[in-house]
Amino acid sequence: MANDIANEVLAAWETSSQYWNKHQALIEMMYAPLSRALIEDAHIGSGQTVLDVGGGSGEPSLTIASVVGGSGSVTYTDPAAGMVKAARDEARRRGLQNIHFHQGPAEQLPFSDNSFDVAVSRLSVMFFPDVLAGVREILRLVKPGGHVSFVVWAARDLNPFFSVVTTVLDRFVPADKDDEDAPAAFRFATPGKLAKALQQAGAVQVTERELAFTIEAPINVERFWELRTEMSDTFRNKLKKLVPDQVAAIRYTVQKAVAGYFKTGGMCFPANVLVVTGKKARN
Ligand SMILES: C[S@@+](CC[C@H](N)C(=O)[O-])C[C@H]1O[C@@H](n2cnc3c(N)ncnc32)[C@H](O)[C@@H]1O
Repeated sequence: MANDIANEVLAAWETSSQYWNKHQALIEMMYAPLSRALIEDAHIGSGQTVLDVGGGSGEPSLTIASVVGGSGSVTYTDPAAGMVKAARDEARRRGLQNIHFHQGPAEQLPFSDNSFDVAVSRLSVMFFPDVLAGVREILRLVKPGGHVSFVVWAARDLNPFFSVVTTVLDRFVPADKDDEDAPAAFRFATPGKLAKALQQAGAVQVTERELAFTIEAPINVERFWELRTEMSDTFRNKLKKLVPDQVAAIRYTVQKAVAGYFKTGGMCFPANVLVVTGKKARN
């Protein structure tokens, strides 16, 4: 059963990777404040060795590589081969020499105990099939006293980038009842939930802060539709079940519903995440 869930999650991200690759630059721009928050809360600086878990199309690894510089290094990990390829290609394109790449899930990483100064994970822990095993593995790899920092989405209604679209879609294709603990984007939206998981995994001095930011990019409503329908596995699967007239109706309704978030300069959605940080205990 646990393996079935892990395989399902991985298959979905493997399919998504071609779109995360296609929209890499946009994703980097939209979520840049989240990479900055991780760098700040995990106290990342020049010369450090950093582990990035679930690095997707490259963030926060690519940003952190320039912060740690030539005397430091970043080890990017992700279980989806397509994501690893996208991130590696982008690092090569930028001529970054201080990133290493590994394909594999958080729950099982082939590094020695205490290998890294710090570990971070941006918008990924909610998809770990076994969160406790994943966080324990991350803590094993960090040196005693080292920070581990995670960013997760806060409540869906604080994130219209997602909620406006899902509200429209649910009217056409009713959503299945959510299992609050299943791998999904809003699995850790309840304040305190991820912090508790970190404590259970053995992290100490666990803190949580809410971060309000704006998802900004110079794109129009048409490009937003393309981005949202391609990036989300749920969205893609639901649209596949509909006839072209229904898709056209959803597209029209979504574009009308999000119009207020677009100005002459492009897209601007208010957004909200939780940044949860702990430390590995010193024994
Ligand atoms: C929403 S994306 C975030 C990617 C990137 N960190 C970012 O913020 O742009 C979630 C990522 O989690 C990865 N993921 C899924 N299951 C995972 C697991 N068990 N361990 C580590 N990463 C996982 C997916 O392959 C995907 O790349």
